[in-house]
Amino acid sequence: MNNVTERMLAFIDGSPTCFHVIDNLKKELTSKGYKELKENEEWKLEPGRFFVTRNDSSIISFRIPKKEFKGFYMIASHSDSPSFKIKENPEMEEVSAYIRLNIEKYGGMLCAPWFDRPLSVAGRLIVRDKKDGFESKLVNVDRNLLMIPSLAIHMNRDANSTAKYNPQVDCLPLFGDISAKGKFFDVVAKAAGVKKEDILSHDLFLYNRVKPTFWGANNEYIASSRLDDQECVYATFEGFLEAKETENTVLHCVFDNEEVGSGTKQGADSTFLKDTLLRINEGIGRTNQQYFTAVANSFMVSADNAHAVHPNYKDKADPVNRPKMNGGIVIKYNANQKYTTDAVSAAKFKLVCEKAKVPYQTFTNRADVPGGSTLGNISAAQVSVDTVDIGLAQLAMHSPYESAGSRDCEYLAEASRTFFES
Ligand code: CO
Repeated sequence: MNNVTERMLAFIDGSPTCFHVIDNLKKELTSKGYKELKENEEWKLEPGRFFVTRNDSSIISFRIPKKEFKGFYMIASHSDSPSFKIKENPEMEEVSAYIRLNIEKYGGMLCAPWFDRPLSVAGRLIVRDKKDGFESKLVNVDRNLLMIPSLAIHMNRDANSTAKYNPQVDCLPLFGDISAKGKFFDVVAKAAGVKKEDILSHDLFLYNRVKPTFWGANNEYIASSRLDDQECVYATFEGFLEAKETENTVLHCVFDNEEVGSGTKQGADSTFLKDTLLRINEGIGRTNQQYFTAVANSFMVSADNAHAVHPNYKDKADPVNRPKMNGGIVIKYNANQKYTTDAVSAAKFKLVCEKAKVPYQTFTNRADVPGGSTLGNISAAQVSVDTVDIGLAQLAMHSPYESAGSRDCEYLAEASRTFFES
């Protein structure tokens, strides 16, 4: 594979859940000589390359150039995407013929595109180990396992005019016929290479089995699950790895739980980033005064995908600031500061794009549409630094098969590298 977009799509294909995102980043970091630090051990640091994880679903990777570094240059994105989570005791027998699985929504997804396509299950299992303790095991049942079949149009003549989805009624996936009874955790245990009786607990999610693809008259588009936000995770990560050393400590941060408000121990609203910055400062033998000086010299790029103007719904976009796919990096603005961008942080980021020779464009919501929020302002409440909110333009956000431009990922990788080098 020769371009960053292809590598990004392969990364997403291999990362069906937030736990796989972190595991895949860890593998890449370890192969490049980054040393893993544990939060429950003391940090005695020298200049070098490190990473630390929390809950196996958030990660902060960083490089310290020298003890007298100037500031923290950071890019943040999120590891999670909306999905259906498998509930406890998930199997439900129906009409003596079917086994369905009981699920609930994680995040605010579009429900309709989850129907009538092959799905499977991935996530983590907590299993007993040999010493009366437990360990975490990643699992991905790598085959077509589940389906959420639609109700036929003949039984719901209004289906095309009044679509409504009740997750407890409409969205339960079919797992098998009656012979599948009691087998769900056999399938999961086998895929994880563990014994079913050793499974103590689980965080399992549905995922779409349809592979990422290029499409369009000139292959100008891509489609994949989880472009929000793994496209940003991957593009900024390549930029991070390739950037040359400067006077700043550079950090690549990926937080879990953005889709449910970030308010968890590993989310952007946790102390994870703040704790890590403080421990870097202290671990390398600097004073508190030096810490606050460094924070004042710092900058954060919050990278989370943005809405492209939709050809069928042009009126939903702002009349002027309407991002286009392949139009470059989207800088997001909001007067009420749901996006952190202000005149200063926007100017800094525009200079980065100019230096990187990549295009940028702007997004604002219509003034009568509240819009979404993202990581930047939440993280800024914990670590208050100059921040810009950006993303890549996409359609069908929070569908299990989203579309974006095939060139934008490369722009973001290049801008990220340039940012980390500035
Ligand atoms: Co997002």
